[in-house]
Amino acid sequence: MSDSFPKTRLRRLRKNKKIRELLQEVRLSASDLIAPVFVQEGLSKPENIESLPGIMRLPLESVADEAREIVSLGIPAVIVFGIPSKKDDHGTSAFDDHGIVQRAVSLIRKEVGDEVAIVTDVCLCQYTTKGHCGLVNDGTIDNDRSIETLAKIAVSQARTGADIVAPSAMMDGQVKAIRQGLDENGFNDVAIMSYSAKHASPLYAPFRDAAHSAPQSGDRKSYQLSYTNPNEAIREIELDINEGADIVMVKPAIAYLDLIYRARQLFNVPLAAYSVSGEYALIKAAAKQGMIDENAVMLELLTSIKRAGADIIITYFAKQAAGLLRSS
Ligand code: PBG
Ligand code: ZN
Repeated sequence: MSDSFPKTRLRRLRKNKKIRELLQEVRLSASDLIAPVFVQEGLSKPENIESLPGIMRLPLESVADEAREIVSLGIPAVIVFGIPSKKDDHGTSAFDDHGIVQRAVSLIRKEVGDEVAIVTDVCLCQYTTKGHCGLVNDGTIDNDRSIETLAKIAVSQARTGADIVAPSAMMDGQVKAIRQGLDENGFNDVAIMSYSAKHASPLYAPFRDAAHSAPQSGDRKSYQLSYTNPNEAIREIELDINEGADIVMVKPAIAYLDLIYRARQLFNVPLAAYSVSGEYALIKAAAKQGMIDENAVMLELLTSIKRAGADIIITYFAKQAAGLLRSS
């Protein structure tokens, strides 16, 4: 044999299934996942969401069963999104202690107890007539009035039993205002998972259809990040950490793995990634056409999010992935 013959043979470590298992570096687990739950006020039975095949809008009566099913698959947490029956200019139904999210949270807590971590989305777009994530004053978003309202929403959600509140409005100072509101009301044990690097993305379209939260006019570019500005995204994350975020988030996930990786290197705080509705819809649509193997692609892409550095993944595939991971 010549000297140039390979001495290092990486294929030795790929020889059979058990050796590969032993050397697996990144492992996706059901315990990494948060499952989204949509609950709609006044609904009489679960309703399919056309743009999110396999995901349903649930009536209040069904949410506890759904949460129970989710935890039985080994998923530790749900994130609750509400679809209220009434919208107004102030987003009043978002901070009503008897609002749809608040009632869903109390029910889940009552029925499932501490077997599930409950996360709530803190935003205004589903609750205001204008459909923006902040309050609109004379055609512009009133940042500082909005963060007062966001703090009221978070406090109300905490009062009904949320473990983690997740502000997604991208208003400046929202994390600080929410932390202050929670602490003043005795909820210093309620954590904040901030949607820190949330981008203005067309990949949210199926969600807006699901949650009836599309803006009536304009877009979200005056508050959500541009996908052209990665350094600005890092500044958003840094600011949120300084304002008291316990967990920071990058959203969407798959097209933003560079940011997940950078955030992981730069900050020693728990990092979440939100694999959004459009990412889910792309895979579902291609699989429906017979173009890809749905489960295989799902696992590859979810694992890539973990490999980039995320600790937590919010995904509409949560139940499907957990079921597969359990049986594999
Ligand atoms: C509310 C909110 C949105 C998503 C999560 N919370 C929509 C938006 O900002 O337009 C998107 C989730 C998804 O697309 O899966 N602000
Ligand atoms: Zn919003």
